[in-house]
Amino acid sequence: GHPDTFASRVLRWFEINGRHDLPWQHPRTPYRVWLSEIMLQQTQVKTVIPYFERFVATLPTLPALAAASRDDVMALWSGLGYYARARNLQAAAQRCVELHAGELPRDIDALTALPGIGRSTAAAILSQAWGDHHAILDGNVKRVLTRYHGIDGYPGLPAIEKRLWSLAESHLPDARMADYTQAQMDLGATLCTRSDPACVLCPLQDDCSARREGRIGELPTPKPG
Ligand code: ADE
Ligand code: SF4
Repeated sequence: GHPDTFASRVLRWFEINGRHDLPWQHPRTPYRVWLSEIMLQQTQVKTVIPYFERFVATLPTLPALAAASRDDVMALWSGLGYYARARNLQAAAQRCVELHAGELPRDIDALTALPGIGRSTAAAILSQAWGDHHAILDGNVKRVLTRYHGIDGYPGLPAIEKRLWSLAESHLPDARMADYTQAQMDLGATLCTRSDPACVLCPLQDDCSARREGRIGELPTPKPG
């Protein structure tokens, strides 16, 4: 695409500053990407890495996860917390064996129908595993987009969320979707942090609304009440 689009700048930043050595990137299979995204929903990257390595060493494929004992799955998850994630993960694997020939479906609606997979997680899986064109919208991306576009209103409100999905879709690059998804997570987690973002290092600084208007402390709008 054009060298100065939102996506091009984020991708160029990612080349130098992003994470390219994560275990689920090598090899980047649908099963490994899915497992990583579920682990990363509520847990930091550096905590997830050793759990991920142990999990895939013991249960290297989706059918192996489906066939494992509940106790073995829970033991592999033990210490990560939010244990419903592990129960949903195995239930989803079992559903994939029943309905999708033992594979994760390459379809956003079929993925979101599985336990534990919401719209953003499904998009993160499809973009990273296959390079498919789907926007993600997790907490990090919401923070970047509300600041960059100067969007007022609590991002959990349906009307605001709808606008953010639409903006996220408007920025998708023509190619390099796997890198783009990871790049947004990395940008939100390392530069555009909740307090005191590192705007001087940000590839979006030249046309970020919140930075220009001095509104970084106000955006994203906090939950009302
Ligand atoms: N949180 C959710 N998915 C992530 C990813 N791929 N990298 C870093 N943090 C994440
Ligand atoms: Fe976030 Fe600052 Fe970048 Fe704007 S310039 S997107 S506030 S890090």
